[in-house]
Amino acid sequence: EAVEAVASTGGDVTVTALADGAVTRVDGPATVREVAAGREWTLPASGFWQVHPAAADTLVDAVLDLLDPRPGESAWDLYGGAGLFAAAVASRVGPAARITLVESAAQGVAAARENLRDLPRVEVVAARVETALARRRVTGPVDLVVLDPPRTGAGARVVRDVIAAGPRAVAYVACDPAAFARDVRTFADAGWELAALRGFDLFPMTQHVELVGLLRPRAALNRR
Ligand SMILES: C[S@@+](CC[C@H](N)C(=O)[O-])C[C@H]1O[C@@H](n2cnc3c(N)ncnc32)[C@H](O)[C@@H]1O
Repeated sequence: EAVEAVASTGGDVTVTALADGAVTRVDGPATVREVAAGREWTLPASGFWQVHPAAADTLVDAVLDLLDPRPGESAWDLYGGAGLFAAAVASRVGPAARITLVESAAQGVAAARENLRDLPRVEVVAARVETALARRRVTGPVDLVVLDPPRTGAGARVVRDVIAAGPRAVAYVACDPAAFARDVRTFADAGWELAALRGFDLFPMTQHVELVGLLRPRAALNRR
């Protein structure tokens, strides 16, 4: 019914076939290597990773540029996958700063634990973001937040819980502009402002666009 080929930035090629509801690897390794954020990553070929070969570094550059992490700042990487943004932020805040990654897919959690092993101050929480925040498995205060939800967006409850943790800035990576806009409205209703917005053509020849937005409390903008 479908054939998927993964050609990784580390040089691996894996082909899988979908037939009768079953996914079968027909060629290549089960795990592939990717290179991004100055690191090499080992990931399941079927797990989440940015599709365009330049996407991971492009998004990392945008997130770091907008958040401008400072040494010692704490951070959350929500919907963190294998930890791309957690690793990038860790390189700026330094080895003593605490970073919490939340991811719900078992494959993503395992990949994050494996790939971030050299960063002991990064805690990987296996949970849905909404549950982790609501049940206070992850608690503030926190300085910086990266939000990279699936197409449905983070939703009002998650946005309100993020705001309640008191970050000075949130970088929102969005693959669905409509869901992003709804979440920006929730930030705005709480006195936050979209301070910067960048768009990237990460899916050429399609109508899709990836956004990275910087959200900050309005009072912080007025002080500048
Ligand atoms: C767009 S991907 C981003 C992954 C990662 N930030 C990256 O750039 O590689 C969204 C991630 O969120 C995870 N996810 C989806 N819904 C979730 C939820 N409710 N709570 C936590 N993680 C979720 C997916 O498994 C996926 O890894």
